[in-house]
Amino acid sequence: MKGKILVTGGTGYIGSHTVVELQAAGYEVVIIDNLSNSNREVLDGIEKISGVRPVFVEADCTDKEALTKLFDENPGINGIINFAASKAVGESVQKPLLYYRNNLVTLINLLELMPKYGTKGIVFSSSCTVYGEPDVNPVDETAPIKKATSPYGNTKQISEEIIADYITSGAPIKSILLRYFNPVGAHPSAEIGELPNGVPQNLIPFLTQTAIGIRKELSVFGNDYNTPDGSCIRDFINVVDLAKAHVKALERMLEDKSEEKLEVFNLGTGVGLSVLELINAFETATGVKVPHKIVGRREGDIEKVWANPDRANNVLGWKATTPIEDTMRSAWNWQLRLRERGIM
Ligand code: NAD
Ligand code: WQD
Repeated sequence: MKGKILVTGGTGYIGSHTVVELQAAGYEVVIIDNLSNSNREVLDGIEKISGVRPVFVEADCTDKEALTKLFDENPGINGIINFAASKAVGESVQKPLLYYRNNLVTLINLLELMPKYGTKGIVFSSSCTVYGEPDVNPVDETAPIKKATSPYGNTKQISEEIIADYITSGAPIKSILLRYFNPVGAHPSAEIGELPNGVPQNLIPFLTQTAIGIRKELSVFGNDYNTPDGSCIRDFINVVDLAKAHVKALERMLEDKSEEKLEVFNLGTGVGLSVLELINAFETATGVKVPHKIVGRREGDIEKVWANPDRANNVLGWKATTPIEDTMRSAWNWQLRLRERGIM
């Protein structure tokens, strides 16, 4: 075994895919999740893929006593990947304190416990949302951080600052901040994937639910942007590729491959794809039509943003490799599996 890793939010979308990659790389995984946005069956999916059922603790990371108990009962945790957070942008505007409490108290509890238990490093799930509407694309890690437009986005900015301040104060820990662009798709086995709650707000789950007939049609929010086809542009990154970057980041921190105590990496493909191009890629890859119509812009949307992933490619030694068509097929196969299982 290479070491013991605590994965907070490990039954969630990106967390579950990362657990599988950690296991494949030889790490022992302990998951903590309060199941507020996931369920226990995800553990079955993980076990089907890897053959190993991770240790699972159902608890809330804002509960410091529960976290302390977890560290006591699972001695020797070398590193943490902190996925646990509330992530719905719209909801965060309605319930800001819920977002600040959940996302920030979780992080503070983990940071406080790390030195006490000799845990060396923490990988933090940040987001391209910290760049807002970037002045230049592709966006590298030196691009300015723009004022957050939602409490959710603000929790990511504040979390990054909390980690930086803590390390500057001399705390005996290391950290890597990973700024994800738009994670999409599912594991190729279709054993794990994204489980949207209610009506999906994000593009891909809405698209696959439309393709399977749960939704009548997909609304494309705006075709009058300053982009070649008028729809917004994003950097859609395959979730398994994304998961693999976490393993690289952990290795870098825990094996002291860098002198730096705090590093930041953009995780994207480096290619911007428009919403209309993505719909087209889905239809080509699956042969399934997605009924859609153009509607007005969605308030607060960024016009175009895609990553410059050079730092992750060259320094972390990670690259997104999955073609978008494969990613679209994986999203579709996951949607079919959800239907088979009577979930959606
Ligand atoms: P997710 O909701 O699928 O996973 C988060 C998991 O954390 C869920 O299983 C949830 O039950 C759990 N959780 C939430 N609060 C908790 C708490 N207090 N204690 C214990 N468990 C808790 O979300 P995801 O898409 O997998 O995102 C993972 C991380 O990546 C989040 O921090 C998110 O902000 C960040 N991120 C996501 C995206 C994206 O588009 N999905 C993009 C950028 C960053
Ligand atoms: C993508 C594109 C929509 C739904 C959000 C968060 C961001 C980050 C990633 C966490 C946009 C368009 C969408 C639909 C559409 N998350 N769209 N019809 O907005 O890039 O980013 O998730 O950190 O913080 O804000 O992702 O999937 O919602 O939208 O036309 O029904 O698809 O307008 O251009 P977004 P998204």
